[in-house]
Amino acid sequence: MQILVTGGLGYIGSHTSVELISKGFDVVIVDDLSNSKLNVFDKIKKITGKNPNLEIKDLKNKSEVKKLFSDYRFDGIIHFAAHKSVNESVNFPEKYYKNNIGSLENLLENIDEKMHFIFSSSCTVYGQADKMPIKEDFPIKKSESPYGETKQICESILKKFCDNNPNFNNITLRYFNPIGAHSSGLIGELPLGKPENLVPFLTQTAIGKRDQLIVFGDDYNTPDGTCIRDYIHIEDLADVHVSCLEYSIQKKNKKNYEFYNVGTGEGLSVLELINLFEKVNNVKVNYKIGKRRKGDVIIAFADVSKIKQNIGWVCKHSVDDALKSSWFWEKNLRDE
Ligand code: UD1
Repeated sequence: MQILVTGGLGYIGSHTSVELISKGFDVVIVDDLSNSKLNVFDKIKKITGKNPNLEIKDLKNKSEVKKLFSDYRFDGIIHFAAHKSVNESVNFPEKYYKNNIGSLENLLENIDEKMHFIFSSSCTVYGQADKMPIKEDFPIKKSESPYGETKQICESILKKFCDNNPNFNNITLRYFNPIGAHSSGLIGELPLGKPENLVPFLTQTAIGKRDQLIVFGDDYNTPDGTCIRDYIHIEDLADVHVSCLEYSIQKKNKKNYEFYNVGTGEGLSVLELINLFEKVNNVKVNYKIGKRRKGDVIIAFADVSKIKQNIGWVCKHSVDDALKSSWFWEKNLRDE
């Protein structure tokens, strides 16, 4: 079966492409290189020993998307392509609306009703939830950022599209915090420029590319005062996409629009994560406590019972493994 992976050279997209190829799917990657590097494609080929198709295209461009759909016949789409910086989205909201919402609309305009569609959403849609762990039926609160808002709007667009197209199957995955790298050490999280997310900043500080990691606030109402998140191994995240696609292809869906949390179900504070990184990798990280970052929620970890019950999917990797793989990847980059 031929699967289109949009944003397939990005962090989650590249790992998922590898997983799809290794499960025997025929993969077409589309990427605009806005936050990825072309050499990721060579790494995907090296890991899998296969030669997937690559299309460098901008999904905002209607005619390019149309051409893509006339050149291939897709059985399924995994849609990752989106901008993802919370901070940047506050300064450039239009860029986020145009890209994140426009790309989805262009895909849907060309879609065949029988295609299986997996959408990359985020726990950011819940905002600061009132209780923990977060369940899928918790309210969608007003978003703190245009980035979060685009995920909420895309979810609504897909829900409406499913209502109007009963043969179309969509699964929306609300990820918590993906971390780690592929076990080969060949692909991992490499944002262009200065990282905003915790783990790439941590590994770049440990290796000496960055002077110091700033912990954004230690005066929150949590046991050690730092924010709590649910950190999931990227290989688990890649695996869940393939499991959901297979579930959809096997027509196991109960509804044509389904949505799931994807996390470990465990919360770790920023300080706990840094300490664990130092311990499992036997390396010191230069960090200090700084001011709170605007827009951060205090605590977010998932209730993962729905995906376990319906799809039979659970995490296989630990946070220890994820932090070891991140460090292995960062050292590999240095040695390249
Ligand atoms: C948020 C969203 C996530 C989304 C991601 C996109 C929530 C709960 N999470 O992740 O769904 O996919 O944005 O980028 O809305 N931190 C530091 N120092 C740093 C960097 C981060 O202390 O240099 C702290 C943050 O304050 C936070 C934690 O580390 O408490 C994780 O931050 P980050 O990796 O940026 O992810 P989120 O903001 O949780």
